Amino acid sequence: MLFRQSDCLAVALGKRDKYTEVHCDRVEMLCLQLGVRCNLSASQLVRLRIAARLHDVGKIGIPDHILFKQGRLTPDELVVMRTHSVLGQDICNALPYKDAARVSRIIRHHHESFNGSGYPDGLSGDQIPFCSRIISLADSYDAMLTTRPYQRARSHCEVMDVMRQECGKKSDPSLFALFEQLVDASYSRLGIRARKGMLPAGISGITTRRRLPNDSSLS
Ligand SMILES: [Fe+2]
Repeated sequence: MLFRQSDCLAVALGKRDKYTEVHCDRVEMLCLQLGVRCNLSASQLVRLRIAARLHDVGKIGIPDHILFKQGRLTPDELVVMRTHSVLGQDICNALPYKDAARVSRIIRHHHESFNGSGYPDGLSGDQIPFCSRIISLADSYDAMLTTRPYQRARSHCEVMDVMRQECGKKSDPSLFALFEQLVDASYSRLGIRARKGMLPAGISGITTRRRLPNDSSLS
């Protein structure tokens, strides 16, 4: 049931901002692979997957002149843009699902940094929900591989260089080590060249968003 509800929100996000919907799809697949490598339980993987899919759903509430600005945001615009993580929490918290609060908390904290310099709450280290730390890694990786109005797309190697420099500052070092193994092994099939709907390596039993299992643990 939760998957169906999150599909509705994902479709709504896509109607507002197609780039963000597709970005969220890729981040979801990366998070799923990393979550499997972290030996998360089935219920944890479900929460991670939903939160990854909807991590930027709060952008629905960002004004057009900021969300679609063709250029770098001003400091004031950046403040508004950064409200998307809390807006996303508010939206997902309203889902009629017993784990909605846990999923929405993951979304709230997906832009926290390991050293406490992130937002909205400046959490650090283990204060940041584990699944939020996973999403942060996948989000950074995918975002840097993508051409945006304010940046050119970087290559996989360039992205990994940046992420190595951010390790321990933005990202959790132990999680980054696992992430590096994961993407180095499969980047030629993943990253920005990923085909939508492609199954991640090693988890062929898990389907993509449009073809979801009937899992009773989800309702
Ligand atoms: Fe975000």
